[in-house]
Amino acid sequence: MSGRRTPTGLFVVFEGGDGVGKSTQVELLCANLDALGIAQLRTYEPGDSEAGRQIRRIVLDPATGDLAPRAEALLYAADKAHHVSSVVLPALAAGKVVVCDRYVDSMLAYQGAGRVLDLGDVERVARWATDDLRPHLTVLLDVHPDQALTTIADKDRLEAAGADFHERARNLFLQLAAREPEHYLVLPARESRQDLAARILERVLGLLGRRAPSDPAGRLSP
Ligand SMILES: Nc1ncnc2c1ncn2[C@@H]1O[C@H](COP(=O)(O)OP(=O)(O)OP(=O)(O)O)[C@@H](O)[C@H]1O
Ligand SMILES: [Mg+2]
Repeated sequence: MSGRRTPTGLFVVFEGGDGVGKSTQVELLCANLDALGIAQLRTYEPGDSEAGRQIRRIVLDPATGDLAPRAEALLYAADKAHHVSSVVLPALAAGKVVVCDRYVDSMLAYQGAGRVLDLGDVERVARWATDDLRPHLTVLLDVHPDQALTTIADKDRLEAAGADFHERARNLFLQLAAREPEHYLVLPARESRQDLAARILERVLGLLGRRAPSDPAGRLSP
């Protein structure tokens, strides 16, 4: 499956396990692009649309009760379908750099790695929902789940889901990256924020056909 990529704009996605530093790097990349006068849209999945917020509420609200795994996967897919169509594609059509915190790979890693649903089925649903729109670049922040950059409280949540599950999810992220290395940047999440941000900015500017500033890290907010 090769998917499709838009001819205008640049779709950049951040993926990786819980607490690896995705949102931190999303924010730094957007700040760096902004400082260079490059139009960008910061967004996330699931939930960053009006319908998405309602879908997210259904998934998270305890009043929902038990959700059948297929129903949960379809709700995530519905969120993606609406987000791509109403948020991501219009911004790409306007020529922006769309920086998205989690995308299809997260759905595959979390809905597919639990061994309840068939991974191939989950991928077909996710690709159909997104009309097979692929990122120009996926930044995968990789670290062993034991070493995720989380607080103690978050660690409890991670452990609650089971170490096996998080290892399978990590392996799946890495397999997806290995499938299409030219569209992935896999980085060790434990590097310093500034070093990671500089490497990500360099790759993004390269894709935009611009050279990185000589001291990109110096442009970052502390
Ligand atoms: N390179 C880094 N080195 C050390 N700490 C970091 C680094 N990047 C982020 N952090 C810290 O790690 C914690 C998690 O970061 P962040 O919220 O960006 O992760 P995330 O992947 O978005 O998490 P989640 O999956 O929960 O959304 C934060 O306290 C953040 O300040
Ligand atoms: Mg985050």
